[in-house]
Amino acid sequence: MTLVIHNAAELVCIARRGERSLRGPALRDVAVIPDGALIVDGGRITWVGPTAKLPTIPPHVRLIDATGKTVLPGFVDSHTHLIFAGSREDEFEQRVQGRSYQEMAARGGGINATVQRVRRSSKEELKDLARRRLQLFLAFGVTTVEVKSGYGLTLADELKCLEAIAELNAEGPLELVPTFLGAHAVPPEFRDDRAGYLRLLTDDMLPEVARCRLAEFCDVFCETGVFSLEESQALLSRARELGLGLKLHADELTPLGGAELAVRLGAASADHLLCVSEAGIDALATSDTVATLLPGTAFFLGVDYAPARRLIDHGAAVALASDCNPGTCPTENLPLVGSMACTQMKMLPGEAVAALTLNAAAALGRSNRIGSLEPGKQADLLVCDVPNHRHLFYHFGVNHVCLVIKRGEVVYPAGFPAGGGECLSP
Ligand code: NIG
Ligand code: FE
Repeated sequence: MTLVIHNAAELVCIARRGERSLRGPALRDVAVIPDGALIVDGGRITWVGPTAKLPTIPPHVRLIDATGKTVLPGFVDSHTHLIFAGSREDEFEQRVQGRSYQEMAARGGGINATVQRVRRSSKEELKDLARRRLQLFLAFGVTTVEVKSGYGLTLADELKCLEAIAELNAEGPLELVPTFLGAHAVPPEFRDDRAGYLRLLTDDMLPEVARCRLAEFCDVFCETGVFSLEESQALLSRARELGLGLKLHADELTPLGGAELAVRLGAASADHLLCVSEAGIDALATSDTVATLLPGTAFFLGVDYAPARRLIDHGAAVALASDCNPGTCPTENLPLVGSMACTQMKMLPGEAVAALTLNAAAALGRSNRIGSLEPGKQADLLVCDVPNHRHLFYHFGVNHVCLVIKRGEVVYPAGFPAGGGECLSP
């Protein structure tokens, strides 16, 4: 063993029997060990249980005393757009005065405003900006983060963004999951030739992204005035042929039937779902497609939230994510998203913590490796200065994270003493 945590007020394991996602009543029944302990060896969890049953610890092992604190899996943010440059507080101010997101996009703002800034930025500049955001994510307890391209919208600019993601992933300590979102908007130079942009996506961009292995998933913004249901289906089918996993921005601003399409194509997740129909809820409930909800976006746009209760009660696997982006949700505070899920969508705190860990890992096809504290899983975990997991979302808007461990190593706070053999309390 290399690291042991003991005396945790709560060890929040999430799953008990290797479940790959939790749904229905199981989502609220998260596995918790009171006065818990955990053993890590070589980056993996090898044992969890009550502190009273902890085996004898050899002297060279680092021992962390978590008295009064809660230990849980690292948060997984399964939906972000964090490769961007510039900011859009001008649009924010106009929205506060009553203009809609779509109105502003039609006037040349929105996604294409950020596209202009990203095209003018070098890969190094984009990495510097994203690195700062990743530092914030880490401080809020996020250990794995999906990152989309989608503000380049030329082959060269999309590759620049995806390369930035790959290089940041190699830097660590956060694990980044790259998604190609070339179908985020039709760029201005193709305004009068959308068929031309669709050809560029299917014939040039998608094959090149797949050939360079720069993306694990392909996503499409399926929305009235952006990409239609038919266009989304064609793009995702091509992506699937090329070996990419699928995601979809579905039913975000209007009820188009994106959830049903995502399920039909076997997508890993359907995301947003603010306007999902009854048929969409039924389709998600009987599939493995994870329903990823992003309440920070509804909060920031001032619109109605996704029907989390109905999705959970029908049996869909619900995850929560930030949507971190400059237009509709500029935040890295994922625990705050958990608080919004509780107060605005009536998710129970236990449901929210499972939706931010195991179910989010399932949305990234990684729930066999991360998202719960079970023997055999990667040792990605947090020590938080709260007496139980409910308190994480109850005392909201502040940071309770005092220690982040990724693959068995303490990676936050910076300067936490390295080495072993000593007893520490975070
Ligand atoms: O998830 N819906 C599309 N993409 C983002 C918004 C991006 C932007 O406005 O820059 C979203 O809400
Ligand atoms: Fe998004």
